[in-house]
Amino acid sequence: MLLQVLGTAAGGGIPQWNCACPGCSGARACPERRRRHASLAVRTGEGRWYLVNATPDIGDQIEAHPALHPGPGPRQTPIAGVVLTDAELDHTLGIARLREADGLEILATAPVRRALEERLRLGEVLGPYTTLTWRELPLSGALPLSGDTAGPSGHGVRISAVPVSAKRPRYAADAPEDDAWVVALRLYDPATGKSALYAPAVAVWSEALHRAAAEADCVLVDGTFWDDEEPRRTGISSRTATGMGHLPIDGPGGTAGILATLSARCLYTHLNNTNPLVDPAAAQHKQLARLGVEVADDKMVIEL
Ligand code: MLT
Ligand code: MN
Ligand code: ZN
Repeated sequence: MLLQVLGTAAGGGIPQWNCACPGCSGARACPERRRRHASLAVRTGEGRWYLVNATPDIGDQIEAHPALHPGPGPRQTPIAGVVLTDAELDHTLGIARLREADGLEILATAPVRRALEERLRLGEVLGPYTTLTWRELPLSGALPLSGDTAGPSGHGVRISAVPVSAKRPRYAADAPEDDAWVVALRLYDPATGKSALYAPAVAVWSEALHRAAAEADCVLVDGTFWDDEEPRRTGISSRTATGMGHLPIDGPGGTAGILATLSARCLYTHLNNTNPLVDPAAAQHKQLARLGVEVADDKMVIEL
């Protein structure tokens, strides 16, 4: 299984257009510190990829990776569809950027699909441009991500969703509660027996999430905030990290201590521009290295 990291930033990206915080200013001065919105591409067969989340940067993310470029036919694309972990705008606005496609397959849980169809009215708005085909992400069992092209084993990559939290996007704050608003994705390759867990939004470290993380060979986890007070200290929110639906990395209840106990390769993604880790010289990198935990980079390739 091949995973191509396409971006590692939380909503707004780094730099964020209206932000002059040290993280954003640092990235303006130093282009290698820029991070695009968190996203991943998963190869499910020769020349066939699924995008995990569709960010506002999706056009640039595709252009930055030759494997995702179209061809040889003039309108032939290796991108077969999009898998969604949640309905947040930073993970879904890119769907509208893909409207030049004849059709687009979207895998999502039921509440996420409802939010996109009924609140953002994506099906109705994009209908005159393209056809969205929805597939429901299974919360138990697993389904072949790519129906028609199988890997050497004849099975291809299999996908399932682990419910993480009932955190709804702000535009759907009054929608019914449901465990499947935010999920982690389990990607399993029967050819190698290896699996990856992608969890870019973690409000609660549940038993089910822990079990999935303990079984995985590679885990990519919500690294939005370094500590719980960061959003308040930096003035971006009146809520704590946990209150915003993102468990912090450090401190009591932080995820670093949990990741350190796993045998999987663990990497943080979805970094907010206020997170000290966006500065490569920050001491926090050494603290994570001592725990054996990594910070994902845009353009990283993970082979499992
Ligand atoms: C989040 O990750 O919590 C959301 O993207 C924040 C937002 O856009 O409101
Ligand atoms: Mn986000
Ligand atoms: Zn900033």
